[in-house]
Amino acid sequence: MLKVVSFSCKLYDRQQLCRSFPADWQSEYVEVGLDQHTAVYAEGAQVITAFVNDRLDAVVLTRLAAYGVRMIALRCAGFNQVDLAAAERLGFVVTRVPAYSPYAVAEHTLGLMLALNRKLYRAYNRVREGNFSLQGMLGFDFHGKTVGIIGAGKIGMLVAKMLKAFGCRVLVYDPQPCAECQALGLEVVELNQLYAQSQVISLHCPLTEQTEHLIDAAALAKMPHGVMLINTGRGALVETRALIAGLKSGQIGYLGMDVYEKEGALFFEDHSCEIIQDDDFERLLSFPNVLITGHQAYFTQEALQHIAQTTRENIDAWHQGQALLNQLTQG
Ligand code: NAI
Repeated sequence: MLKVVSFSCKLYDRQQLCRSFPADWQSEYVEVGLDQHTAVYAEGAQVITAFVNDRLDAVVLTRLAAYGVRMIALRCAGFNQVDLAAAERLGFVVTRVPAYSPYAVAEHTLGLMLALNRKLYRAYNRVREGNFSLQGMLGFDFHGKTVGIIGAGKIGMLVAKMLKAFGCRVLVYDPQPCAECQALGLEVVELNQLYAQSQVISLHCPLTEQTEHLIDAAALAKMPHGVMLINTGRGALVETRALIAGLKSGQIGYLGMDVYEKEGALFFEDHSCEIIQDDDFERLLSFPNVLITGHQAYFTQEALQHIAQTTRENIDAWHQGQALLNQLTQG
């Protein structure tokens, strides 16, 4: 019988996976994340499934191989958490869910932009306290503003189309040619032009060696003073200390983040009764013009269904020796 162990499984993941995984698999769901200490849960399994903050470095992969695991089915699109070279060396088949709902992430991105601009998160508290003053609540029209999209893939293109519908001028930077861009009225530009001309910049490229800390002090200095920066991609696309400096100087006027460089120690868990030790994160929270959500951009019913269904299909295809549509390879 095929044994499949799923890591980082919250109740909502488990409910969805249970509906999608066949009854004749021996399916086990563990709530803890995968690391070198928890890899032992995979003993005897041929397949594991894992999520964004599970560690799949060489040490963990070596342990998984020793426990008999042969396939890793990621339940996410991003795969920066996997050492693909080590996985290939150890003979693992690795698959992912390339698109579970680009709409979910694009809509959340727009949500962050609008909430930051019109300070909805502050208005919620003010009105409940009987404070109807508009002092400090002044926003701007998105209509007519220039927005820069870094990474014109599935999510970036949806964000671009939505902003186009708002009447924005949309600049796009992507190393791959964008076939649709011209027809949609999007301007494909070099990165420096995007930095210089965009009042709002949104990150939708994958985290790779080339994009790690793409947004650092030097990049921020090229942007207009008071820029709105939105990151729903991956935390390490930006350098956190540079963000803090940029917020202090006013160079960043608004910051929206759904992801954070060191989110693995915080996100997806309730830490409300603890003292959070991450000083950079706490400093970010102290700014009134920062809105952070805990990696929830993807979190819609439709996305959870797609994740479970595609993960099942990936495992099925591997088990039955069929062609793998969503396999990850080093190249
Ligand atoms: P995609 O693969 O469709 O698009 C990524 C685009 O980025 C591609 O067009 C690629 O050419 C481009 N790109 C690659 N290197 C680049 C660089 N150096 N500069 C600019 N662009 C570059 O991926 P998709 O589905 O649009 O997702 C984008 C990212 O969003 C994922 O890699 C993932 O990290 C993140 N994500 C976040 C979620 C969340 O819940 N916050 C959920 C799903 C994805």
